[in-house]
Amino acid sequence: MNEPDIRAVFPALEQKVYGKPLVYLDNAATAQKPEKVIALLDEMNSGVNGNIHRAVHFLSVQCTERYEQARRVIKKYINAAHEHEIIFTSGTTASVNLLAYSFGQRYIRKGDRIVVTTQEHHSNIVPWQLLCERTGAVLEVWDIDDSGVLDPKKLEVILDKSGPAPKLLAMAHISNVLGLVNPVRDIIRIAHHYKVPVMIDGAQGIVHRRVDVQDLDADFYVFSGHKLYGPTGTGVLYGKEKYLEEMGPWQGGGDMIASVSLTNGTKYAPLPMKFEAGTANFIGAAALGAAVEFMDSMDELWLKEHEETLVSETVKKLSEIEGLTLYGTAGTYYGLSWEKIPLFSFSVEGAHPNDMALLLDKMGIAVRSGQLCAEPLVERLGQTALLRISFGVYNTLEELDYFAACLRKAVAMLR
Ligand SMILES: Cc1ncc(COP(=O)(O)O)c(C=O)c1O
Repeated sequence: MNEPDIRAVFPALEQKVYGKPLVYLDNAATAQKPEKVIALLDEMNSGVNGNIHRAVHFLSVQCTERYEQARRVIKKYINAAHEHEIIFTSGTTASVNLLAYSFGQRYIRKGDRIVVTTQEHHSNIVPWQLLCERTGAVLEVWDIDDSGVLDPKKLEVILDKSGPAPKLLAMAHISNVLGLVNPVRDIIRIAHHYKVPVMIDGAQGIVHRRVDVQDLDADFYVFSGHKLYGPTGTGVLYGKEKYLEEMGPWQGGGDMIASVSLTNGTKYAPLPMKFEAGTANFIGAAALGAAVEFMDSMDELWLKEHEETLVSETVKKLSEIEGLTLYGTAGTYYGLSWEKIPLFSFSVEGAHPNDMALLLDKMGIAVRSGQLCAEPLVERLGQTALLRISFGVYNTLEELDYFAACLRKAVAMLR
């Protein structure tokens, strides 16, 4: 694809809101879909539709093939060792809940420790709190420093406490508030030194970094389809075979069984179907495969340069606004590098984020405001709400200019 023409394959970008051309800067919440994904959804919704893994008829076989092809595409994209390590879910939230249930049942007992960080999205906090309530396990927090980054030495203190090591570290690849890429490869190495498995919440990570789960040595990596230019209601739990084999299912129903008897109990299907009970969102999963192919087809070098330019230009524009505080700055901390993606959360003195967001909306600009589903982090940063802009592959420097001019206007109106 000729990358500057990328906007042409996203029909959503052509629309106007309040008579103004849409400037969509809420990609971290959900991204727009390319034609290829839309066409596949349309084709399957309007005819190529038969329940998978069950029937021998033409449509069922077609859909099964597309569903399993998507699994192969994703396996290759994230370099999993096996196709059956890719479990389809309805999104990051469902993946974390699945893990909290099944990993919890298998490995977590009263008094065990589970570690999360202050950076986490609610989806990577609440399922673990629920698990702690069920089992009597304890949630331990690896706190950020005042710059928002994580000191690995503090992790070592948590991991090295007397008594048994924590049972799991669950943390974000990229915070949806700070837009900083955690050096997860190094962190996983530290955790593994203490024999602690690691789950990476890749909801933002997989959108902005090429992920190789074997190179990272992640034990689990979870993400959503809709942030990756795919459909809503789709997602993935990647897990190492050794854990997935040992874990029991989290939901029962069709497709996850090998045999069912009313007298002799049920034998479960092998991976991956053990974790895919009921009729899967097979149309969505197939379209997620198309979205991953779309990402794979992008010119990596162009995308990297485009993101770097957006980051440096946005930092420059935001620094020109008086009273603006930006949270999450790229740099070297604790001897490790924290890169920034084009995602910026900030506050502006004298202007509430929700008011700014409403004014920007009337100018055609979609942004996010509030606690950003990360209340502990926003509080830790000393705020009650923030304004966030997040760029997708199709956003341009012209849009950034327009946003910066509109933000100035909004701030002036509110002060
Ligand atoms: C870092 C992070 N984790 C988890 C989620 C939850 O994703 P979903 O709502 O698609 O399940 C999000 C969504 O914004 C996120 O940014």
